[in-house]
Amino acid sequence: MTADSARAFVLRHTSLRPVTGLEEVRLHLADEVLPLWHAVQTATGDPDAAIPFWAFAWSGGLAIGRYLRDHPEVVAARRVFDLGSGSGLCAIAAVQAGASAVIAADVDPFAAAAIELNARANGRAGARRITVWQRDPMLDDPPDVDVILAGDCLYEATLAERIVPWLDVARARGIDVIVGDPGRRYLPTSELVELASYLVRTTTELENLDHKTGRVFALRSGRRPA
Ligand SMILES: C[S@@+](CC[C@H](N)C(=O)[O-])C[C@H]1O[C@@H](n2cnc3c(N)ncnc32)[C@H](O)[C@@H]1O
Repeated sequence: MTADSARAFVLRHTSLRPVTGLEEVRLHLADEVLPLWHAVQTATGDPDAAIPFWAFAWSGGLAIGRYLRDHPEVVAARRVFDLGSGSGLCAIAAVQAGASAVIAADVDPFAAAAIELNARANGRAGARRITVWQRDPMLDDPPDVDVILAGDCLYEATLAERIVPWLDVARARGIDVIVGDPGRRYLPTSELVELASYLVRTTTELENLDHKTGRVFALRSGRRPA
């Protein structure tokens, strides 16, 4: 799958629209997960292809977007890293809040294509300030940034087991870590300080509730990673 064909696939299976509750952000979104997931499996020839996370705005990311709108000073004029960027929702919200540069990282090639298209669809600043990384950031040390955003990344045990220690290392190095989550079970609650909560409307029918409470947390400093 080339970058061009991934972009064409995203455009074919989504429509560009404002995000409910965060209308200043426009994303290429889909309505139903299962037919799109099937199309991804067919296009890649991979029956184990990942769910098309990138075609939906997830509650953790929506909560971070709302939080950055209310508190732009968290990212304004700062370098930001969006972990598990999906559609690029948090990265775009960070640019709109005044971030100087944003790296949007996701392992999924369709996510990389969607982030690029969505960054462009949100004006010149998005296209200029967002750099897309299609790779697993946890294979390396945390990047040299001021803030890491982790919107709805802690949805699987094995992934959370890798992400949380990596975020601990980042925090120990002085990077601010902001986590957005709707209360998934792998959230390291004892390490987090709640900053805000928002009633958000997810765009995926995979979530069993139309509206969810998305919480925004800061990772505590002081805990030394092993
Ligand atoms: C539930 S989605 C959240 C997307 C977006 N942050 C939001 O809130 O709408 C989680 C994303 O994490 C990405 N992901 C999973 N494992 C990853 C890894 N090891 N490195 C980077 N991204 C990863 C998935 O591809 C997916 O796009």
